[in-house]
Amino acid sequence: MAKTDSNSAHFYLTTPIYYVNARPHLGHAYSTIVCDAIARRKRAMGIDTWFLTGTDEHGQKIERSAKLAGRTPQDFADHIAGEFRALWDRLGLTYDDFIRTTEPRHKRGVQRLFATLRDRGFIYKGSYTGQYCVSDEAWVDVPPGAPCPDCGRITETVSEENYFFKLSAFERKLLEFYEENPGFMQPDSTRREVISFVRSGLKDLSISRSSFTWGIPVPGDEKHVVYVWLDALANYITALGYGSDNPADQARFAKFWPADIHLIGKEISRFHCVYWPAFLMAAGIPVPRSIKANGWLLFDQGKMSKSRGNIVRADTVREVLGADALRYFLLREIPFGQDGNFSFDALVQRYNGDLANGYGNLVSRVVNMVHKYFGGTVPESSPETAAEFALRESTTRTIAEFAPLFDELNFSEALKSLWNLVAETDGYLTANAPWKRPADRSEADHASLQARVLSTAAEAIRVITALVYPILPDAASKVWQQLGQGDIADAAKNAFLTNVAWGGLKPGTKLGEPAPLFPRAEKDAVTRMQNLEDENNKNAVEAASKQEGAKPEAPTSALPVAPAPPPASPSVNQVQDPSMKPGAGIPKPTESTPHSNETAPTQAPGSEKPVPTTHVSQVQPELTSVRLDSAPPPAASQHKPLDTQENKGNPPEAPTQPAQTNHISIDDFAKVELRVAQVLVAERIPKADKLLRLEVDLGYEKRQILAGIAQYYEPEKLIGRKIVIVANLAPRKMRGLESNGMLLAASLPPDGAPVLAGFLEDVPLGARLK
Ligand code: MSP
Repeated sequence: MAKTDSNSAHFYLTTPIYYVNARPHLGHAYSTIVCDAIARRKRAMGIDTWFLTGTDEHGQKIERSAKLAGRTPQDFADHIAGEFRALWDRLGLTYDDFIRTTEPRHKRGVQRLFATLRDRGFIYKGSYTGQYCVSDEAWVDVPPGAPCPDCGRITETVSEENYFFKLSAFERKLLEFYEENPGFMQPDSTRREVISFVRSGLKDLSISRSSFTWGIPVPGDEKHVVYVWLDALANYITALGYGSDNPADQARFAKFWPADIHLIGKEISRFHCVYWPAFLMAAGIPVPRSIKANGWLLFDQGKMSKSRGNIVRADTVREVLGADALRYFLLREIPFGQDGNFSFDALVQRYNGDLANGYGNLVSRVVNMVHKYFGGTVPESSPETAAEFALRESTTRTIAEFAPLFDELNFSEALKSLWNLVAETDGYLTANAPWKRPADRSEADHASLQARVLSTAAEAIRVITALVYPILPDAASKVWQQLGQGDIADAAKNAFLTNVAWGGLKPGTKLGEPAPLFPRAEKDAVTRMQNLEDENNKNAVEAASKQEGAKPEAPTSALPVAPAPPPASPSVNQVQDPSMKPGAGIPKPTESTPHSNETAPTQAPGSEKPVPTTHVSQVQPELTSVRLDSAPPPAASQHKPLDTQENKGNPPEAPTQPAQTNHISIDDFAKVELRVAQVLVAERIPKADKLLRLEVDLGYEKRQILAGIAQYYEPEKLIGRKIVIVANLAPRKMRGLESNGMLLAASLPPDGAPVLAGFLEDVPLGARLK
């Protein structure tokens, strides 16, 4: 039966498919957890649901990352895709299918889609010269050398013969479609941005690449590979069976397409709300019903991401507080569609407040009292009083409120409303104190009150548990057993959420044994989570150094065997990940943490721990005179920056005989990773007379460095110049911009004028100085 309208008994929802250039972190887990909660609720409403997730494995970014790791792209993708899937399983996520874009079923579907678009006259061949952002895998309309307007990383000039999609033909159709389908894009901010993007005019889109090979060959012209976004977006249909001649696949596609929800991160809305419907319209395939964009999980005001080095792993939270705690926190704390901050402190506070002391404690009190006073059997209630009437009314109101809030993806408000009921039930219990018989109450009256109060409270808990099941599946399953309701998975199969109503807990029901749900998190929970992150980082660092030892010429940024150390804990200094994506580390100024000045301290404010060992602490600012032999400069001038407050008025050292003390060992020297880089972009920074912002190419990646040489070097003269940088210096922020390394220069008397280190012979980019 083909799906016809939005009230269909079939529901199809998807997560974005995750790039396999970096391991999963909480930001990825967020979208997948949201989808899991929706899928669980839909299934428990008796709706035939298909929940798809997967990995995005082709393209230049993955090809380069694999090369850096010394692996084939396929082997590399297998490894990270396996990590995503294993994590989703550990988190108990109930996806129905996991698509990998390197699977034959996907390749077949993408080629079918490409051929269909060509056959219908929407593809032509042309040549293209323009800027490409490898990190976003996106064509961007900026001049050569300019950063990507979306992510701020350096763009590359690409000049290729490509296939083009006639996107321009869809400008009006898309605008009409948005007009007729106001619910297509959410939130409103996304809708407004997308509409204004389309209104500003659509150019035809290059949908093939011919300068690398890691992709799906264009059918009939195999020296081209399909543009990775066309490849990736098609996953939503290929996973269902589009492109297959097998009747079972065709039936699945007919049943579930069009998708009800594509859940995506807000930064990829243009691809989903403009390109994807245009491709589908051109191919004659129905467009999805809605695109819902989630905001970003932030840490330290910046998007949590591998390249910023501020990630937290979902496993850390799972191991200490459990997967349910993570689900609850993400859905309760962050209004869907908005950015939200993550912190271990806030997590533990929510956990203790709402789960341990709130719901968990309520369940434990009631179940224990039913065991204590009624031998574990739900008593027959005496006639209700005003107090029971009020709780029943509140419960009924909550049932009515919760469903639409959840279905609008307003999880935060839905949970708030449900937790008001938790608090009210708790208050009802306390007010009626069934554990205490006042002297003026007969035993019979007290037994009657106990029966009434405990059966009423237990019923409220049953309703709360049913409603919260999609968000706290593990806890709900335990409580369901404790309430003598059996297996909640069976209840879900029987569509128990279609008729949640007061009165389901029958007198005479035998309760299960009480068991702890959310043990209170002690003071050390935050430290334990931080330690787990540290431990994980340490292992990554060790893996990185083994890798470095095994392949001395390989850059330390090898992935995935040598992942980068994120900060020692999320509440401390952010550290640049050596596994940084090509071009990473050049955040938009708007993404930066608040202003810091050029004489920033060694560690970020609030930093408690030293930076991980693969990075050399940035004890000096962006430029210093560094000798290339292993003898230190005179003690008095050691590590003196050129433009800090401390050396104002202190003439730098004359190039005299250095002191022969404070030797360092060769191992100490080996910690400093000096590499050859080429300046791609050099520019002044407004209101910072001494700083230049450089974008440099290390051959294996590009990054941003801030250098205090503006008074001595004209920026334009630096472009193309090969310099030497300290590549493993912990990043630091200056003027709101991140500096990822330090360049080397001699410091000349009398005023410390820098002279950049360089080479007479030609040297390849990324070459290490040893
Ligand atoms: N491969 C593309 C998506 C293709 S879909 C056809 C991609 N991959 S990604 O791995 O970079 O991001 C996948 C999703 O994770 C995006 O929706 C992105 O917004 C989300 N997140 C990654 N970091 C995140 C946060 N810090 N916070 C919330 N979501 C985040 O883009």
